[in-house]
Amino acid sequence: MTQYILALDQGTTSSRAILFDRAGLPVASCQREYPQYFPQPGWVEHDPLDIWHSQLACARDALAQAGVQAAQVAAIGIANQRETTLLWDRATGEPVANAIVWQDRRTAGACDRLREAGKATLIQERSGLELDAYFSATKLQWLLDHVPGARSRADRGELAFGTVDSWLVWRLCGRHVTDTSNAARTMLFNIHTLAWDEDLLALFDIPRALLPEVVPSAGVVGLSNEEWFGHAIPIAGIAGDQQAATFGQACHRKGLVKNTYGTGCFMLMHAGDSAPVSHNRLLATVGWTVAGRTDYLLEGSVFMGGATVQWLRDGLGIIRQSREVEALATSVPDSGGVMLVPAFTGLGAPHWDPYARGTILGMTRGTGAAHIARAAVEAIAYQSAELLAAMQKDAACAVTELRADGGAARNDLLMQFQADLLGVEVVRPRVTETTALGAAYLAGLACGYWESLEAIEAQWQVERRYAPRMEAGRRAELMARWGRAVAHARSWAT
Ligand code: G3P
Repeated sequence: MTQYILALDQGTTSSRAILFDRAGLPVASCQREYPQYFPQPGWVEHDPLDIWHSQLACARDALAQAGVQAAQVAAIGIANQRETTLLWDRATGEPVANAIVWQDRRTAGACDRLREAGKATLIQERSGLELDAYFSATKLQWLLDHVPGARSRADRGELAFGTVDSWLVWRLCGRHVTDTSNAARTMLFNIHTLAWDEDLLALFDIPRALLPEVVPSAGVVGLSNEEWFGHAIPIAGIAGDQQAATFGQACHRKGLVKNTYGTGCFMLMHAGDSAPVSHNRLLATVGWTVAGRTDYLLEGSVFMGGATVQWLRDGLGIIRQSREVEALATSVPDSGGVMLVPAFTGLGAPHWDPYARGTILGMTRGTGAAHIARAAVEAIAYQSAELLAAMQKDAACAVTELRADGGAARNDLLMQFQADLLGVEVVRPRVTETTALGAAYLAGLACGYWESLEAIEAQWQVERRYAPRMEAGRRAELMARWGRAVAHARSWAT
């Protein structure tokens, strides 16, 4: 009987499920969007039950689409939006509040106070992370302090905290676990000892009784309850979506680097089997734990990637659909000197400035929608180029190629401009569903569906390479001009 791996890719705006075959090719794929809640400026929430129901429905849809029975599925792998913070009742399974999403900025003030108290260094040394509202710790603290009764219930051991992976596994099979890659995004986890950190728990006032057990990224954690798919399926792989994508891009060796061009851009470089230290405001994070070995990554996150194109569509109304941006942007030879810094929600790595704001510079009477569109596409590449520059300084090794994936990696103009700005080849693989594929690979390795990392690496194939065409002098000039534009975006709020 032919077997498959079912990957669940629980993302920020949609839940997806993809069924993979032994060649690592997708045979069925389903996606469901679910509601986003913005109760106050800067706040972003999800209903945990929406996450669960949309994810379960997609998984069932994917099986039905392929005409595959649950008994033919060797294992489930989970990749998930990271950092998003959930709290639920252990006895009833009911969430005690909406999930606070990674994009939510409500705890920026709490982070400022910790910084003023001189805690940033301790946090970075233990967790590998920048002190920022992006991560789970201050969000969990906020829930405990603001949801009536939550703190006393947590102290009595009645509540469970988890990121989205924990929530899905708990719903699927009743175990309360998280893998090392997701734990590493909570700001409560010591990435060196691979254990919850007592000092960080004390700093954020988090009771230990709330925390999930930390498990490897590849390994069977339980069997899905029969009621979900009609037959129990082993849950055998878990990773944060960006780590999963890095795994799916076969970046298994030091120096290999991928960039996912999604809502944001997430660039991750393999850093070996000990935690790297960033001197350029990147994050050090766990990649995955497989067969007793933990691999580490350097990460740079840009908050507005493809979302910049959505803004052209929804905010400016100069395109009707995101895919129209390439045609509009290529209708002019260049941006006509226009630079757009999409700091709509502040700036992530390497600036970490929550107060920066979106800025358009260099407009003339000749500037039209096409120049703005081109500047928006180019901004995605400029931000990613800053990440790679920081990474190369931290890693002290030359990068030979950048592996690209995510929706905007289909945009040839963006890919070519990215290669030009980097002076490094940009490579798009044949399977660009690398997040789901990475989760599938982790699950498949755990259950023997794929036998080794080498077998997985052999499946990774290039669809297209973009060689740099720009002169080094021109590249330096453009990056310097980008730096000036960023300075304007940063100075605006002060
Ligand atoms: O860190 C946030 C990241 O995991 C979100 O990814 O693909 O859901 O936007 P995505």
